[in-house]
Amino acid sequence: MAHLAHDPNARPDERTTAQLGAVLSKTAEVKNDHLFVGGVDLAELAREQGTALYVMDVAQITQQLRAYKAAFGPDNRVAFAGKAFLNKAMVRLLAGEGCYLDVSGGGELAIARSAGFDTAHIIVHGNNKTEIELAEAIEATAGLIVADCFEELERISRLATERGVTQSILLRIKPGVVADTHEFIRTGAEDSKFGFGLSDGMAQTAVKMALQLPGIRLKGLHVHIGSQIFAIAPYAEAVAVLADFCTLLQSEYDFTPEVLDLGGGLGIAYQASDEPTAIKELGALITTAVAEAFASAELPLPQLIVEPGRSIVATAGITLYTVGAVKELKGIRCYVAVDGGMTDNIRTALYDAKYEAVIANKAGCKRDALVTIVGKHCESGDVVAIDASIQTPQPGDIVAVLGTGAYNATMSSNYNAQVRPAVVFVEDGTATVVQRRETYADLMARDI
Ligand SMILES: Cc1ncc(COP(=O)(O)O)c(C=O)c1O
Repeated sequence: MAHLAHDPNARPDERTTAQLGAVLSKTAEVKNDHLFVGGVDLAELAREQGTALYVMDVAQITQQLRAYKAAFGPDNRVAFAGKAFLNKAMVRLLAGEGCYLDVSGGGELAIARSAGFDTAHIIVHGNNKTEIELAEAIEATAGLIVADCFEELERISRLATERGVTQSILLRIKPGVVADTHEFIRTGAEDSKFGFGLSDGMAQTAVKMALQLPGIRLKGLHVHIGSQIFAIAPYAEAVAVLADFCTLLQSEYDFTPEVLDLGGGLGIAYQASDEPTAIKELGALITTAVAEAFASAELPLPQLIVEPGRSIVATAGITLYTVGAVKELKGIRCYVAVDGGMTDNIRTALYDAKYEAVIANKAGCKRDALVTIVGKHCESGDVVAIDASIQTPQPGDIVAVLGTGAYNATMSSNYNAQVRPAVVFVEDGTATVVQRRETYADLMARDI
């Protein structure tokens, strides 16, 4: 497996924690050699709550949400992509910040509803929503359902008509734009399972169908070009493609979209060397591109929705582990085994993700060791970070893996009957468990 390969020339970077720049969350600081986030000593927290443990910096999340709102302005909407990180506490936080929520499927919708989220502010996604999920969304009066295929258009129409309601929808369009990111998280190209293609005429057929079907109100179009995007020019390309399509729709069907949803995708710094684009710049690029393209096409300006996930929560998240074993393989590499792994972080195995790690109880020291941090599961691919610089580790140390707030908890699993970690929100010196650790009883709760 090439992605496990260790670079024999790699050397520890000798950085201290404080030198990790944009990888650190807003409130991260080092005091008495310990890493603090949200005013909470993470090494202490690990000992109180046990490990593995997901920690989320609330100030970092709210800062990012507010940056998006400021960058896109009060006429547009910021819908957090729940697939990145979702539980009731997060839903309440979003509601408090006046944000919308993008849910993928019935489970995420159920979580949002159970926390009392205003369903008019919910956008329902998925490339193959079941009949039951669609009925649930319609009955919950979800603000928008994003239709992804012809079958869904027919199902939404029928289910809404049977219930005597009209459901507002968007159509997911493949703009044919290729974002520079890992192929597993690239979604806007023509060869994608998501949405209706433009070049093959499917998007135009879908618009025609949506305008004719009963029980449906077509409000606009949606695109999502991919995730962990650093070079943001493809967003402007997608806008130009959409504006051209809207010109066609205007002349063919006298239809102009009220809403344009441009999805999520902005990249974050997983490594100290990463230089992601600022939210402000993304906002300026998209709002300018839309204003110019729609003005030159003489079309009314649509309301914009953006659906950031990763760039809201990734940096806020830190996963804490306890070192169980340090295995120095002479002339090969040093394995550091922790009490979690691919069950709480599948991203390294799935996407070759890279992370920065520090020892929370030695955070002021230089990272003078080069190690491969591995989990406790029965797979050689159970790797958290390869060739990671870290302070010299010993059993009992608390490893903090940074930037793990997005697509970690939500992609977690029970492989090896591992219980999922608790989630703790930290803010102003207070740690609040917002999702308890699973128990062995939880593992058997579904068994009959
Ligand atoms: C439709 C849609 N919107 C938004 C997002 C969020 O993307 P990101 O977390 O990269 O911002 C995704 C991620 O896959 C998505 O599929």
